[in-house]
Amino acid sequence: MNLTIRRETPKDYRAVEELTREAFWGWGENPRCDGEHLIVRRLRTSPDFVPELDLVAEADGKLAGHILYAKAKIVSPGGKETAILGFGPLSVLPAYQRQGVGGALVRHSVREAARLGYRAIVIFGHPDYYPRFGFRPASEFGLTAPDGSSRDAMMALELYEGALDGVGGKFYESPAYEATPEEVAEFEKEFEPKEPASLLPIEALTERLPGPATAALQQHGVRYAGTLCRFSAREMLSWEGMDEAGLARLNEALLAHNLPPKRLFSFPAREEKG
Ligand SMILES: CC(C)(COP(=O)(O)OP(=O)(O)OC[C@H]1O[C@@H](n2cnc3c(N)ncnc32)[C@H](O)[C@@H]1OP(=O)(O)O)[C@@H](O)C(=O)NCCC(=O)NCCS
Repeated sequence: MNLTIRRETPKDYRAVEELTREAFWGWGENPRCDGEHLIVRRLRTSPDFVPELDLVAEADGKLAGHILYAKAKIVSPGGKETAILGFGPLSVLPAYQRQGVGGALVRHSVREAARLGYRAIVIFGHPDYYPRFGFRPASEFGLTAPDGSSRDAMMALELYEGALDGVGGKFYESPAYEATPEEVAEFEKEFEPKEPASLLPIEALTERLPGPATAALQQHGVRYAGTLCRFSAREMLSWEGMDEAGLARLNEALLAHNLPPKRLFSFPAREEKG
């Protein structure tokens, strides 16, 4: 497969919105697209849009993936604002998934963001996917979500050494990421009707799981396989009833359904300066 990455142009807009809708159809706990395609449209006209980092991947000349970035900020407890970047949605057409397209888009855009002089990237995303690119739990940098919470699905990457030293605070992404269910339903009318996807219930994965591990999943509101992307393996292992044997069984079941397993990452220690 010959993969190329280039800037998105207005001619790509419609196709990229379709691609985003396809990639996110049935993702997480929504049998449809949860509005990621609308977010793409909104970001392009937002003051937070970063045109240099609005990129498409073409596989043998065909549109296969897309990533875009938006300016974001960290606000310290004293009110000091630090400009950073966020990205997303990152989308790869189902037919091209797990062939390196998403990875190529992340690596290329991260290099480009660093070249452009940005400080850091903070995202909410799959805690099993982004650590391979150097992302670490944002909590390690003293960052929280606006409500003060710090889940492993919030991750940060410094674009130069020490970029986030002393920059603790709350992370605010661009308001362009907000879309109400009504706005999404209205936007959906612009697209060809599509059958809702069937979500894989968690019961399909728990048949061979020890009882306490199944109970732990229930207790944490894991109703579908797609709910698992909210939690890191590390967080799941801290749940009462979940242990390595339970996680291993869950991973066997995920792999049997051709779904990515939960991964335990070890993050090399950071040395904070100054
Ligand atoms: C997530 C996504 C962007 C990854 O892109 P991709 O091109 O399929 O992934 P790559 O080929 O670069 O990487 C493949 C690896 O990532 C893993 N992976 C893929 N999707 C994953 C996911 N959702 N969660 C965890 N790991 C995932 C695969 O298991 C594979 O691991 P391996 O290399 O150890 O075998 C793509 O699958 C996608 O568009 N998914 C639907 C939308 C989505 O989830 N977007 C991201 C929201 S944060």
